[in-house]
Amino acid sequence: MRFLQPLLAASLAAFSVAAAAQAWPERPVTMVVPFAAGGPTDVVARMIAIPMGRALGQPVTIENVVGAGGTIAATKVARAQPNGYTIFLHHMGMSTAPALYKKLQFDPLKDFEPIGQVVDVPMTLLARKDLPAGTFPELLAYIRANGTKVSLANAGLGAVSHLCGLLFQSAVGVELTTVPFSGTGPAMNALLGRQVDLLCDQTTQTVPLIRDGRVKVFGVTVPQRLAVLPDVPTLDEQGLKGFDVKVWHGMYAPKGTPQPVVEKLTAALRVAMQDPEVKKRLTDLSSDVAPLEKISPAGLRTHLEAEINRWGPVIRKAGVYAD
Ligand code: MLT
Repeated sequence: MRFLQPLLAASLAAFSVAAAAQAWPERPVTMVVPFAAGGPTDVVARMIAIPMGRALGQPVTIENVVGAGGTIAATKVARAQPNGYTIFLHHMGMSTAPALYKKLQFDPLKDFEPIGQVVDVPMTLLARKDLPAGTFPELLAYIRANGTKVSLANAGLGAVSHLCGLLFQSAVGVELTTVPFSGTGPAMNALLGRQVDLLCDQTTQTVPLIRDGRVKVFGVTVPQRLAVLPDVPTLDEQGLKGFDVKVWHGMYAPKGTPQPVVEKLTAALRVAMQDPEVKKRLTDLSSDVAPLEKISPAGLRTHLEAEINRWGPVIRKAGVYAD
C-alpha cells in the first residue's frame, strides 16, 4: 500500500490546485502597471479595472511599479505567484524590451500567460505652451537652431514616448537632450510646468490637455488625422513621410497561472472592453478597443511574437540599448 501514498499525494495536490482555480477569485486581484500613476497606461488600467472587478466578483486594484521603461514591473510579475491574483497591463514595450535591454530578467514569450489584447492608442507631439514656435516649420527651425538645448521628455528606455522621440529625432536629423521620467504622467507635469520643451505622448493622456489649450500640439503620429482632433495635422502630412506610431496594449498573468483562471480573466477583460462607458471614454480619447477575437490568449501571443520580430531588427540597426 505504501507505493500508493505518492500517487495519492499527487492527486490530492492536483485536486487542490483545481479546487483553488474553481474558487478563484476569493480576494482582490492586483493589476500591475509599469509606469507612474496618472499617465496613459494608468488611465487605461483604472478605466478597465472597475468593470473587470464587477465581472470577477472581486475588486481589481492597481499597483504602479515604475522604472527602466516598464521592465522592473515585468520582472516582478514574471516572478509573482501564478495564482491569478497578479495580472499585468503593459504596452508594446513588451515587444521592444528584448532588443533594448541586454540583461533582461524575463522572457516576454516564455514567462507570461497572455490574457488578451486591450487597446490601440495613437500619440501626439507636444510642446510646452510658451515654446517660441507656432507651426511645425517654426518648430523645426527652432530645434535646428537650438539642438541639444531643446529637451525632450520620455518615460525611460523602452517607453513608447522614448521610441517616438527617437523616430522624431531621426526623421528631422537633429539630436535633442532627452529627459527620462518614471512615466509620461510626471513627464507631462514637467511639460505643463515648462521644465521641459517637448513630449511625445499617447492620446489617452493628451486629448483633454490639447483641447484645453494647456500644451502646444504639432502633429499626430499616425498617417490619418484623428476624428477627435480634426485640426491637428499628421507628422506624415507635414513632411515626416511614413511616420507611423500607434501603441498597442496587452494583459498578461505570470506563466503557470491555471488555464481556468486565465479563461476567467480573458472573459472579464472582454466584458470590460465591451462596457459601453469604457468604449465611449476610449473613443473620446481616440483609442481603438481591440477586436473581440484579439482579446484572447492566442490573439495576444500571435501579435506579441510578430511585434518582437518587427522591432528587434529596427532597434538593433539603430544601435540603441541598455547594458
Ligand atoms: C505611461 O503610462 O507613462 C506611458 O505609457 C509611458 C510611455 O511608454 O511613454
